[in-house]
Amino acid sequence: MHNAALTQFGIPAVYRALRVSPDDWPEFARQLKTPGASPLEGFNVTVPHKERVLALACALTDTASLCGSANTMIRTPDGWRADNTDAPGLAEDLKALQMCWKDKNVVLAGAGGAARSALLTVATGSDRAQRVILVNRSRDRAEGLVKEFQSRLELSELVVCSDGAGALASADLIINATSLGLKPEDPVPVPLERIRSGMAVYDMVYHRETPLVRGARSVGARAAGGKGMLVNQGALAFERWFETDLKKVHYTPRLLREIMGRAFDAALNERTQP
Ligand SMILES: NC(=O)c1ccc[n+]([C@@H]2O[C@H](COP(=O)([O-])OP(=O)(O)OC[C@H]3O[C@@H](n4cnc5c(N)ncnc54)[C@H](OP(=O)(O)O)[C@@H]3O)[C@@H](O)[C@H]2O)c1
Repeated sequence: MHNAALTQFGIPAVYRALRVSPDDWPEFARQLKTPGASPLEGFNVTVPHKERVLALACALTDTASLCGSANTMIRTPDGWRADNTDAPGLAEDLKALQMCWKDKNVVLAGAGGAARSALLTVATGSDRAQRVILVNRSRDRAEGLVKEFQSRLELSELVVCSDGAGALASADLIINATSLGLKPEDPVPVPLERIRSGMAVYDMVYHRETPLVRGARSVGARAAGGKGMLVNQGALAFERWFETDLKKVHYTPRLLREIMGRAFDAALNERTQP
């Protein structure tokens, strides 16, 4: 996605994948902190480094600070600035899909990094949901997340529930932020038989249509996978890194997201072709 956008806008940079194991992280971080030791102007981080990367930052955006994790690092003259584009990326996509959460009942499955972003999106701010029910395999992890958010934010009513079926009874919007759905053999994260036509379902899994999305659509519910969130979080990171370059070319946020979306589809097709 990023390389397609770099080509489109004529920006002389490349985006590459780097595998950094937890054991290699201290050395990686040392290089990033040493002036002139790393050519990186910016980078994304994913699991399992999204929390530990904060220690590298000299400044955190509000979103990174509120999420307690970052996925985007930006080099500044003073050092690294940590940002989290997952939460605004999700918000952008939910709005585009007209999946409203303000004053609604939201069921959020998961309590990991992606759930943190979703919680920040739907449970905080002036447009927050009325009630958010967290459903997670490890109940204590969900409770820890709720306590952490409650200690520092004005929130929607937050409830942890072990009974997925009960949680769904009054749901307007259901968000899957668990890893279930990544593999074809995964069970569905919430009981499909409880999904009704008036509900909206957002599954963060982005590389395939999951049984959750298919099942929800089959009963007339509105449902979407996580491609839009993925594209948006990538585009938001790109805009942070290349703000100055983008001012010199024909750029619109929409064009960037179209280019990245097409690149994503092409890469996925390539991967799934026999
Ligand atoms: N669309 C996007 O842009 C975007 C962005 C970020 C993430 N994601 C997706 O969101 C998902 C979660 O990512 P993450 O970063 O939050 O991962 P994570 O921090 O590892 O959290 C994984 C979550 O899934 C649950 N889980 C894992 N295996 C399970 C199982 N067998 N049964 C029930 N629950 C299970 C975990 O429950 P426990 O707490 O019990 O372990 C935890 O809540 C992934 O599919 C990822 O690809 C999408």
